[in-house]
Amino acid sequence: MSSVTSNIESVLNEERVFPPPEDFSRNAGIKSEEEYERLRAEAHDSPETFWARMAEEIHWFKKWDTVLEWNLPHAKWFVGGKTNISYNCLDRHLPTWRRNKAAIIWEGEPGEQRTLTYQQLHTEVCRFANVLKRAGIERGDRVALYLPLIPELAIAMLACARLGATHSVIFGGFSSTALIDRINDAGCKLVVTADGGWRRGSEVKLKAAVDEALKQTPTVKGCIVVRRTGARVSMQMGRDYWWHELMETVDSNCAAEELDSEHPLYILYTSGTTGKPKGILHTTAGYLLQCHLTCKWVFDLKDEDIYWCTADIGWVTGHSYVVYGPLSNGTTVLMYEGAPNYPEPDRFWQIIERHRVNIFYTAPTAIRAFIKWGEHWPLKHDLSSLRLLGTVGEPINPEAWMWYREIIGKARCPIVDTWWQTETGAIMISPVPGATPTKPGSATKPLPGIEVDVMTRSGKTVGPNEGGYLVIKRPWPSMVRTIWGDDERYRKQYWSEIEGVYFAGDGARCDKDGYFWIMGRVDDVINVSGHRLGTAEVESALVSHEAVAESAVVARPDELKGSAIVAFVTLEGTHKASDDLKEELRRHVAKEIGALARPDEIRFTDQLPKTRSGKIMRRLLREIATSGSIAGDVTTLEDFSVLEKLRTEEE
Ligand code: WTA
Repeated sequence: MSSVTSNIESVLNEERVFPPPEDFSRNAGIKSEEEYERLRAEAHDSPETFWARMAEEIHWFKKWDTVLEWNLPHAKWFVGGKTNISYNCLDRHLPTWRRNKAAIIWEGEPGEQRTLTYQQLHTEVCRFANVLKRAGIERGDRVALYLPLIPELAIAMLACARLGATHSVIFGGFSSTALIDRINDAGCKLVVTADGGWRRGSEVKLKAAVDEALKQTPTVKGCIVVRRTGARVSMQMGRDYWWHELMETVDSNCAAEELDSEHPLYILYTSGTTGKPKGILHTTAGYLLQCHLTCKWVFDLKDEDIYWCTADIGWVTGHSYVVYGPLSNGTTVLMYEGAPNYPEPDRFWQIIERHRVNIFYTAPTAIRAFIKWGEHWPLKHDLSSLRLLGTVGEPINPEAWMWYREIIGKARCPIVDTWWQTETGAIMISPVPGATPTKPGSATKPLPGIEVDVMTRSGKTVGPNEGGYLVIKRPWPSMVRTIWGDDERYRKQYWSEIEGVYFAGDGARCDKDGYFWIMGRVDDVINVSGHRLGTAEVESALVSHEAVAESAVVARPDELKGSAIVAFVTLEGTHKASDDLKEELRRHVAKEIGALARPDEIRFTDQLPKTRSGKIMRRLLREIATSGSIAGDVTTLEDFSVLEKLRTEEE
């Protein structure tokens, strides 16, 4: 066990290493570790020269004067330059053969399909930009987008960006209360929504939620509604307009505005652990550059690829890796509107087979669900088109990683476990698939230009394999610029915890090979007898047992030890809950990690409470484990019946 400099102990011990497959490396953009290390060294030694060289890859109306102005905590990148992200994602491809290439292949949950070529997408975006102009939207105005995962959402984002209007995408699963807060915080002038969307066979009534919200949003002057489900909705005269009707009345040419590098591109709200959601602000050029580069490096995009990132566009992953990153690279993006288990648990595998998907990027929580549903679902389908797999959003347990590799990737596809955040805008730590040997459960090494470290609270770098706080030591082009309307909170939250560096809020360790192992949020750290354990590691140990599909570990106050470990566990299909199994699992964790980590209590449950983006709500489990009831805010919970079950199971 490591010494306790930072007071976070790392106990996961994973020894397996998988080198990149030779044929993958041969055809990859970055072909070897040496090539990757050269780039990294170049960026390390002269970062501004490196970023300037990289910035040649995007289109500029006017080149920048200064690469970086850095006054901690405020960065300005490519100062004096002028560009437009919508131009980079569309217009730039039109004089090339990509004009007639599919930009978006979309599948609705009920099964309909639509394809938009780059030229068609360009036309739609120009038209909608003209609609926005006619609605009085100008450079700098904020526009709220509250839509299902349909092409119109990407069109609306690109149309805003074309004019220099700042979009605020609000995930279609949020309630009207969440809408009110977000619309008012940003002072949005216009809302773009749909009658509804499809999720697991039912209609999500978006327009009804907007109607409710607009009673309390004084800045909103109008609402544009996409007809998606065809359900009856109420349209308020003078305020509400149909998308398809407005689109008929406008011209299909609209030049992209020449915007300053630091022009605000979008606001995206993320929930902090407490308090109101933070409006993360991203700007134009640096964000574009880093989405473009990371997409190319990490997904090793080829022009023939069909690329599918399953994230909803309402989250940052959808912004950077469904819309801006892939489109700026001229990629064919697959979009699917609905749930992975509709009508059956093999919908994703069906889609991969039907469209011959090559690159598949999803979340560990989805992978654990697939494991739980059983491998016969993917095994029914031909997944041989896949050549690269990715994950994002939480630490992936080594056992889930191995399942992903064997069952989905047939031991043929490299896996890129990508660590980043809404605040970082783009991937920070990830394998480069043709170059980096992977270790199950590690996001491996930082990408070129990203200087990460693991530190103690007092800002001292810890030794190999010692746990600590993950920080980023230098500004990077796609970094958050501020929290909308609350610059002080920005400074405090990210730049004051440890002096002089960006504080990510995650625990991590770096092994002797320079590989990073993310241990989960710092607030998910458990202090047992003065030893702090990453919940993710205890969970990994549990999931490595054959009976366990998924687990979430939380702390309950304990007089003797400070905290007791409570593990909520869902079982794989054929296994039955029993006291013997509880004992066996406790022993198993003790064996995998040490007696220190043995759960004090194991609770079997059918499901875990999750946010709509799929993150386990450990806060709720902590409350249940501690007091048996929930007093806190549950607005982001996906399925309320889970709580009821957890409560009754307890009695
Ligand atoms: C977690 C999602 C481990 C982490 C892009 C981070 C991860 C938070 C990984 C950001 C990963 C994301 N391994 N943990 N590969 N990727 N996380 O803002 O705790 O929704 O701080 O951005 O997710 O979540 P966010």
